Amino acid sequence: MASLSSSLMKPISQTSYTSLNFTDHSPNSLLLPQILSFSGLGFRGRSLGLLSVMKNSSQTEASVESTQISDVPLLCCSEAIERLRSSQESYKSKQQYLAMYSSIYGGITTDSAAMVIPMDDHMVHRGHGVFDTAAIMDGYLYELEQHLDRIIRSATLAKINLPCDRESIRRNTHSNHTGFQQDRVISNLSPSNCRKPSLYAIVIQDQSPSDQKGVKVVTSSIPIKPPQFAIMKSVNYLPNVLSKMEAEENGGYAAIWLDQEGYVAEGPNMNVAFVTKEKELLMPHFDKILSGCTARRVLVLAEGLVKEGKIRGIRVRNVTVEEGKGADEMMLIGSGVLVRSVLQWDEQIIGDGKEGPVSLALLNLIVDDMKSGPHTVRVRVPY
Ligand SMILES: Cc1ncc(COP(=O)(O)O)c(C=O)c1O
Repeated sequence: MASLSSSLMKPISQTSYTSLNFTDHSPNSLLLPQILSFSGLGFRGRSLGLLSVMKNSSQTEASVESTQISDVPLLCCSEAIERLRSSQESYKSKQQYLAMYSSIYGGITTDSAAMVIPMDDHMVHRGHGVFDTAAIMDGYLYELEQHLDRIIRSATLAKINLPCDRESIRRNTHSNHTGFQQDRVISNLSPSNCRKPSLYAIVIQDQSPSDQKGVKVVTSSIPIKPPQFAIMKSVNYLPNVLSKMEAEENGGYAAIWLDQEGYVAEGPNMNVAFVTKEKELLMPHFDKILSGCTARRVLVLAEGLVKEGKIRGIRVRNVTVEEGKGADEMMLIGSGVLVRSVLQWDEQIIGDGKEGPVSLALLNLIVDDMKSGPHTVRVRVPY
């Protein structure tokens, strides 16, 4: 391994590998893969060049000395961090990462360049991790206990041992920082020969202007996750990302999944609900989709609308597409979107094509609840 460490001291472009035997299983044969992963993406394209040297040559011994391997410099840790910082500074995002707790370094950092997750974390390259997101409004975390319940449930379903007890997760989620709005907890298990489970908590300030105008949705052609995976909030969100992209490509805000039996399921990061012609609030069952904390709270708050006579009742059951598209109102519900009216689903205009009174009343109820709800849903963040 002496040759490995000494070659790593030099930029890769200065390193020459002579007579590298690709079928060799001696320790030196480890040289290429280790350097490949060390150099990451920048090197990957060039590794194809190396492989073509192998292909074009009838020899098993491929001389790569004459091949320009890479101009990518080899950086020490502080140089890499500095480059991370400049790359972040050059990227203007509406989301600011204000603070991060990591159980790996056992502390909180406010330096966004240090808000990183180790490459060998099983969450990063195998998707073995769960997460949750809760909103912070006026210094109060909304529905913290409900989000803690869900992340612990998700971790159990994903066979992830909690890296610490519930109280420690709660404490770390209370990270003290002014002005934050969103908090995200990611927990990860690395099985057997990997790292032990880790906990990360990130505080994100979303500066996008709030927009509650009604939106269009489309039916997702990306298949919904099977119920076993849809009911847990794992980091495997590729189907969700693709379905959101499909919506945007078709001028929509979100794509709606149908379940395996063709009933209305949910959106990529929100639940859906309807107001029927009979003035009932209707929501799909949570048995094959994510049990949304906001949607569950809406079901409780909507009881007030029943008392006021604004709706006749509340039902949670299977919803057909025909019923959904023929509803008086349709809405998206979630921690990010809160309650947002849907004005059009595919080619079908919903109701009279305007934000409905029940959706608007539910939005007001949720916002009031976030600002002045009971202590069971509001926990003060100790600034
Ligand atoms: C797939 C999915 N469904 C529903 C929701 C809504 O859940 P919540 O109201 O807890 O944010 C989310 C939230 O991210 C989600 O990812």
